[in-house]
Amino acid sequence: MDKIRIRGGNSLIGEIQISGAKNAALPLMAASLLTDKPLVLSNLPHLADISTMANLLNHHGVSIGMQGDDTNGGPTGRTLSLLAGGIKNTTAPYDLVRQMRASILVLGPLVAREGRARVSMPGGCAIGSRPVDLHLRALEELGAEISLDAGYVEARAPKGLRGSRVIFPTVSVGATENILMAAVLAEGKSEICNAAREPEISDLACCLVEMGAQITGIGSDTLQVYGCRTSLLNGTNYSVEVDRIEAGTYAMAAAITGGNIILKGAQVNLMEAVINKLSAAGVCVSETSIGVRVSAPSRLKGVDVTTEPYPGFPTDLQAQMTALMSTADGAAMITESIFENRFMHVPELARMGADVTVHGASSLVRGVKKLAGAPVMATDLRASASLVLAGLVADGDTWINRVYHIDRGYERIEEKLSGCGAEIERVSS
Ligand code: UD1
Repeated sequence: MDKIRIRGGNSLIGEIQISGAKNAALPLMAASLLTDKPLVLSNLPHLADISTMANLLNHHGVSIGMQGDDTNGGPTGRTLSLLAGGIKNTTAPYDLVRQMRASILVLGPLVAREGRARVSMPGGCAIGSRPVDLHLRALEELGAEISLDAGYVEARAPKGLRGSRVIFPTVSVGATENILMAAVLAEGKSEICNAAREPEISDLACCLVEMGAQITGIGSDTLQVYGCRTSLLNGTNYSVEVDRIEAGTYAMAAAITGGNIILKGAQVNLMEAVINKLSAAGVCVSETSIGVRVSAPSRLKGVDVTTEPYPGFPTDLQAQMTALMSTADGAAMITESIFENRFMHVPELARMGADVTVHGASSLVRGVKKLAGAPVMATDLRASASLVLAGLVADGDTWINRVYHIDRGYERIEEKLSGCGAEIERVSS
């Protein structure tokens, strides 16, 4: 199993190309199930989760072709052509779903197109129990009959789905995406209320519109979908938006090392809440013609952060912010309002000398003068990224085990960081 070794202490200077967004790419790939024409997606990141989704779609009968790499002067994004001419299999098996929770995103498109779908229940995960009840209740609103059998969710709608008003009691990114995809092939109008407003949902909705779907309210918390049961969508060519979470992570890498980097391709409008907090901590963030520049003094100030649905501060940057605050002057209260138990990084950061205590849904970070390198364990994707950040500034060597978590969401992280002067390497064992 690979490990990452980091020798801390170098300020990051240079440019980092930001990849396409994993969390936008996954639902966009699932949208290929809504058409029997080719959906060509470009700027896909090279990530383990993308391969997992490709394998799952292939299992359902989607032919997937590589169309070469994009070369925009920087590292490459992949272009895939997805063609769901016919659906071979409406079951998403346990072995594929357990590798990635986002596999649940095939449920809505499959039941809408085929009138039935069987998807293994995604289990719990390191960041909490993460149920799928909101996905299921919403599909029931569209007329699907849902049952649970031997660890599988079965959804049936032999006469097709029908448009309806769906009011989510809690904001859910995945459930909004699932129901949006189902609603475009449901008969008549649907209204999705209290929809998540994450940019990844707008990316999905815009692609669906290019495929011929009628959707209004994109970007707001109420989406109207005018569905059609009798014809599938068209194909299209669509470029996946830039990854705001990857950009935020590298912004914090620059900040924790007192560095100065340009995040090529990053968009300030997708990162406002993060930029506000970084600025309050003393980081200088500005828009440039090619992306976003981030520069920081050697010491930052502690700032309090609460995670919220978009446009609030993203939960996917909470662990990285905790690492950043661990060497800032003063204290920072980091409150996690989206997921229970998303503090798995705290004991690992503590092994490196961070002073962090968890009180319910908050952690209190008291900045220390220095972190010290140590062997640590990656527990989930974003927790791993926080350990990389801590390693960049710690004295001596940090060894990060279970690197496969990082590979799910960060493309060639060691190359991107070493290109800016970090001493970081992947070691196969
Ligand atoms: C997506 C992102 C993930 C991010 C999260 C929140 C992808 C592939 N993943 O995950 O990186 O951290 O949004 O921004 O895009 N919930 C329920 N019942 C449900 C669904 C969700 O109770 O049926 C709860 C969850 O446990 C959580 C909250 O709702 O507490 C938000 O989860 P949700 O927005 O659904 O996250 P994901 O779509 O799984």
